[in-house]
Amino acid sequence: MPGDTPLLWALRDGLNLTGTKYGCGVAACGACTVHVDGVAVRSCQLALGDVAGAVTTIEGLGTPDAMHAVQAAWVQHQVAQCGYCQSGQVMQAAALLAETPAPSDVQIDDAMGGNLCRCGTYPRIKAAVLTAATALRG
Ligand code: FES
Ligand code: FES
Repeated sequence: MPGDTPLLWALRDGLNLTGTKYGCGVAACGACTVHVDGVAVRSCQLALGDVAGAVTTIEGLGTPDAMHAVQAAWVQHQVAQCGYCQSGQVMQAAALLAETPAPSDVQIDDAMGGNLCRCGTYPRIKAAVLTAATALRG
């Protein structure tokens, strides 16, 4: 693929990793969030040629038998409605908790505020982030 291909399309079309979603294409919704070296990035606006690190998508965060704590909390709180935004939400939350193990409400709002959910699952997202944070701290 050409180096100017957005990472999102390399993942979806090139590798068939379709858990990462296209929402806006202009870094404004968070549906396409993945990790590069553990940092949350918007894959719709990151050119393949500019990727400098290991990419993790929702498919690599955990498995059904060995879920990441964020995924387990999402299940516990039944966060998803239509589900479209949720892989981006989970990746954003996982990156937040890797950097900030005990986030305040304000820190959660700041970190998650750019991830939009047309279904309005925000209260459950926040509850799940707090549950995952507690679980990760052991
Ligand atoms: S699709 Fe990338 S931020 Fe919306
Ligand atoms: S669950 Fe439907 S857009 Fe977020």
